[in-house]
Amino acid sequence: DDYQLGEFADFMRKEMHEQPEAVRRALMGRLDERFSTAHLGGIELDARALRSIRRVKFLGCGSAYYAGQLGANLVEEWARLPADAEPASEFRYRNPVVDPDTLYVAVSQSGETLDTLAAVQELKRKGGRVIGMVNVVGSAIARECGSGVFLHAGPEVSVASTKAVTNMSVCFAMLALLLGRVRDLSVANGRRLVDALAELPAQIDAILADEEQIIRAAERFSAAEHMFFIGRVRGWPVAREGAQKLKEISYVHAEAYQAAELKHGPLALIDERMPSVVLVPDDELLAKNLGTIEQIKARGGPVIAVTNAELPDGLADVVLTVPRSEPELDPLLFAIPLQLFAYHLAAQLGRDIDKPRNLAKSVTVE
Ligand code: G6P
Repeated sequence: DDYQLGEFADFMRKEMHEQPEAVRRALMGRLDERFSTAHLGGIELDARALRSIRRVKFLGCGSAYYAGQLGANLVEEWARLPADAEPASEFRYRNPVVDPDTLYVAVSQSGETLDTLAAVQELKRKGGRVIGMVNVVGSAIARECGSGVFLHAGPEVSVASTKAVTNMSVCFAMLALLLGRVRDLSVANGRRLVDALAELPAQIDAILADEEQIIRAAERFSAAEHMFFIGRVRGWPVAREGAQKLKEISYVHAEAYQAAELKHGPLALIDERMPSVVLVPDDELLAKNLGTIEQIKARGGPVIAVTNAELPDGLADVVLTVPRSEPELDPLLFAIPLQLFAYHLAAQLGRDIDKPRNLAKSVTVE
């Protein structure tokens, strides 16, 4: 109740600006520099139990589901365990095979989303091993899971989740690091990732300090009726979350696409009235992503590139720059300008940002 707006016009902007602090809290006491790993005491699994995990599945709804996809990518990269994410809302209805060697991770800001709670109950009924990754302590999902990791994002009021989603990704990264370090992730690699995680708060701060570039981009594209968000592999969950944010708070139609899938249909929609936000991390897929921008430009589509690379002059119409991290953690940082972009575009359109029409902060009914 004592969580106030202060200098901010609305909670979404306040909560975006609280992200450096929120991430610092999520990391506090959990990074182990000596052994280049993470400590997540709440999951109550020792090294032997962690090593017995053969697969990881993230379950959540909305932004928590997209964040879960990002988490699954990190688990696959660092622990080399098969991992995926599934909307919790579908889980119980498809009579899922529940595998005792899988670690199920229920993800929720509120801890009250009925569909996610029901997925946990279904898992428990079938003897599945489930932990929670929840923001609100004492919430229904946290209690039902019994063990897990608290996100420590602090209270979140805006319907569109920002700092909680960022902290989900940070906690997934620590889980992936931990699972990796009890397997084959080397000390050197662990060290590289511990250092990169510790850098995140300052890097998010730097993005927030450069909000002007994003305000200008949002102004330029505020008349668009549709937008694409294009990502590839690591960038794909970020593109989905970016499109979701734009839809929910600005009511502009947005669709996320995997870059390589564009040619299988959506390219037909590209023209000068269909801007694309393209994620271009400076990683092993950089050349491919530059090719994607060329494909879009060749069809007259305006491009907003979000990047930590040096792009050829004039390739994109607008370039939003992001600080450099380790490539696996790029998606965490790339998500921040997309939040800000959705926010400022919605602000341009005069939307009720904290309370978008037809949506609720937490959905406790079917
Ligand atoms: C609602 C909110 C979304 C949120 C989703 C899951 O639909 O509008 O922003 O991502 O619920 O909420 P949870 O509290 O479980 O993370």
